[in-house]
Amino acid sequence: MSRRLHCLRWAVAGLGALSIGASAADDAARAHMQYLHHCAGCHLADGSGEPAKGIPSMRGQLGLFLTVPGGREFIVQVPGVMNSPLSDRDTANLMNWLLPTITADTLPANTAPYTAEEIARLRATRPLDVMAVRATLVNQLEAKAAEPGSAARR
Ligand code: HEC
Repeated sequence: MSRRLHCLRWAVAGLGALSIGASAADDAARAHMQYLHHCAGCHLADGSGEPAKGIPSMRGQLGLFLTVPGGREFIVQVPGVMNSPLSDRDTANLMNWLLPTITADTLPANTAPYTAEEIARLRATRPLDVMAVRATLVNQLEAKAAEPGSAARR
């Protein structure tokens, strides 16, 4: 291979890597902007919500739902997420940004990113009473926290 061609190949590979980096940053910026437009009105910019008014804090808590069966589905099937005008793809991107941003300390390490297909499936299978689902999940979390030796025990 000529030296020139070799350099060209590296330049092309470098550009490819740069564009991958830029698109991850773009995805995060887009998610952040969409969070501010479509969620922060209720949940506040930092996700702390207004628990006294029934808007739970997501900070350091949201990840706990991912430790019980049905929690992964629940946090997408809440009305605020399902009724936003965001596409399935943008909703997946928003959730994938939101979780590590807002609840890094409780996010299980093996959490797979949401995909547009998963969001579409969750839209099609919304439970009738999402608050009843939440109550069941919170009961499970409380039971887990009460187990002897549980890290979540306070
Ligand atoms: C009109 C106010 C409002 C908007 C807008 C809204 N939410 Fe919510 N959200 C709530 C309320 C109230 C709850 C608690 C009741 C429930 O679980 O549905 C909630 C619950 C949640 C939960 C579950 C947290 C928990 O502890 O139950 C998540 C996750 C969530 N919202 C994410 C979002 C995201 C992401 C957006 C933007 C796409 C959004 N919400 C937009 C009001 C809102």
